[in-house]
Amino acid sequence: MPRIRLDKLLTHLNCGSRKEVQAMIRAGRVAVDGTAERDPAAKVDPDTASVSLDGQVQRYRAQRYYMLNKPAGVITASRDARHDTVLDLFPEAERRGLFAVGRLDKDTEGLLLVTDDGALSHALMSPNRHVSKVYEAAVEGELAADAAERFRQGLVLKDGTVCRPARLEVLSGLPDARVRITLREGKYHQVKRMVAAVGGVVVALKRVQLGGIPLDPALEPGAFRELTADELAVLQAGGAQEF
Ligand code: URA
Repeated sequence: MPRIRLDKLLTHLNCGSRKEVQAMIRAGRVAVDGTAERDPAAKVDPDTASVSLDGQVQRYRAQRYYMLNKPAGVITASRDARHDTVLDLFPEAERRGLFAVGRLDKDTEGLLLVTDDGALSHALMSPNRHVSKVYEAAVEGELAADAAERFRQGLVLKDGTVCRPARLEVLSGLPDARVRITLREGKYHQVKRMVAAVGGVVVALKRVQLGGIPLDPALEPGAFRELTADELAVLQAGGAQEF
């Protein structure tokens, strides 16, 4: 393959705008085959050169797919003047073009997909696809005896909204009640409102699965990793359907 300018290659690798990558190169943050290269016009062979930014080898990926363990306290938005967002958890060079698939409340933790693939995001969020989402919640208050059955039938929220059939499993009873809830839709504050409709209050909430993909237990809150090829294939096929 013909050799191309280093700044052009880094832009192509989604490391930043042409101007941004030129500044990174001049600052000595970029190495080619292990040696710092400060000349943005240096020519490299994109097929054979190992180009790293801040010590991280950069590879060409047509699109990027990450699993993030969202911590409580950050908001699911790309940019916010007042609050930290999920994108602030990614290195600046990685952020360009990324967004979260769907949203979790500020106080919710757990699995959030972050990508630059608008088509996949749209497909996963489509109300017609019924992609499953599994949450675990710590709950206060006594749940109605028929709560699981009402979830199964299609719960009616306090404001009259009718939910699709969902699954409620009690993982542990009072005083430290924990439940697992599987949904196939994503209404505003849905888990909190569903639990409220059967007499409880959600005091902690974590998403543990999306489209059949479990949250990687090795990811600490705030950490992320790329999806594996198998995970991506499952999501591209519309998500595993487990109920
Ligand atoms: N349901 C909620 O109430 N909050 C979330 O963040 C996700 C689902």
